Amino acid sequence: MEAKSVGPHADDALLADFEARIADGETIEPKDWMPERYRWQLVRMMSQHAHSEVVGMLPEGNWITRAPNLRRKVGLLAKVQDEAGHGLYIYCGTETLGVSREALLDQLLAGKAKYSSIFNYPTLAWSDIGAIGWLVDGAAIVNQTMLAKASYGPYARAMVRICKEENFHKKQGYEIMCILAEGTPEQKAMAQDSLDRWWWPSLMMFGPSDKDSPNSAELTRWGVKRKSNDELRQRFVNITVAQAHAIGLEIPDPDLRHDPESGDWIFGEIDWDEFYRVIGGDGPCNRERLAARRAAHDEGAWVRAAAEAYAEKQAARYRSENAA
Ligand code: 3HC
Repeated sequence: MEAKSVGPHADDALLADFEARIADGETIEPKDWMPERYRWQLVRMMSQHAHSEVVGMLPEGNWITRAPNLRRKVGLLAKVQDEAGHGLYIYCGTETLGVSREALLDQLLAGKAKYSSIFNYPTLAWSDIGAIGWLVDGAAIVNQTMLAKASYGPYARAMVRICKEENFHKKQGYEIMCILAEGTPEQKAMAQDSLDRWWWPSLMMFGPSDKDSPNSAELTRWGVKRKSNDELRQRFVNITVAQAHAIGLEIPDPDLRHDPESGDWIFGEIDWDEFYRVIGGDGPCNRERLAARRAAHDEGAWVRAAAEAYAEKQAARYRSENAA
């Protein structure tokens, strides 16, 4: 879907008014005038976000039946169910921009849509569930706390609710890592191995570096992004390094060092070849994730048909009961 550019003159006054509203910190609502490019950027970003929530259920869902006890099973069930709700919430947001969730799901199932690369990595051990909650949801919280101040009302409001649930997700993940890190040497080694495998892909969740981000300038100009990819990544690193050290785990980065002047943890170079390889479709689990998503969609066809039949029956009954 290509965005029509803003008309050379017709919309100049409208664009100026729109940008003045953004500069004044106003929220843009669905019925307000907006540049087509603003709409296009929001649909692009929000659909990637919604798809990420839905695909993100897959790596964790694999471990629901293998959770070590009932408490962990219930916590993971609740988290995975939350992610489904987050996806639906954000698809509702894209519908306010005139794009149906069916159209977006078709793009995902056709392999034409992006979702966060982090979900193309395998969950090899129970400690990965702890690492995902701690690192992946922790990164999402840093990002989404910023997006809760985005200029587009429906998206910002969705983030407020989603961040509350993400905080539970992060807490249950970090608790898993704490218990393993304080457990037997084998359990601590399992936790460290998960941190080793999930650390760098988590940093990639914030997108390419600012100099290589084709979308950030426009998203920042129009108040969707309030901080840059690199700023958010640095904030996440600063928070998370301290949490790792607090439970005796080491960050898998030999170049990591603390800068007393800025207070930042300076980290090593991200493997951008890996980043672009995975978002290009050649990650460890890209094909598996898409196949699982397609299978779930096909197996769920009867549920959609039943819901539509019930809705039609209800509508027909309402029409007959209210016929003039
Ligand atoms: N995985 C996949 N694609 C990525 C990516 C990643 N980690 N990081 C960037 N990209 C893509 C972008 O989508 C963009 O693709 P496009 O131009 O072809 O559409 C391209 O790489 C260039 O990146 P930009 O930085 O220019 O793109 P954005 O300005 O859109 O910034 C983003 C990327 C920071 C991911 C931003 O889109 C964003 O904040 N999205 C909403 C939040 C989100 O998606 N969070 C991650 C997943 S949600 C989650 O983690 C679920 C939780 O419950 C665990």
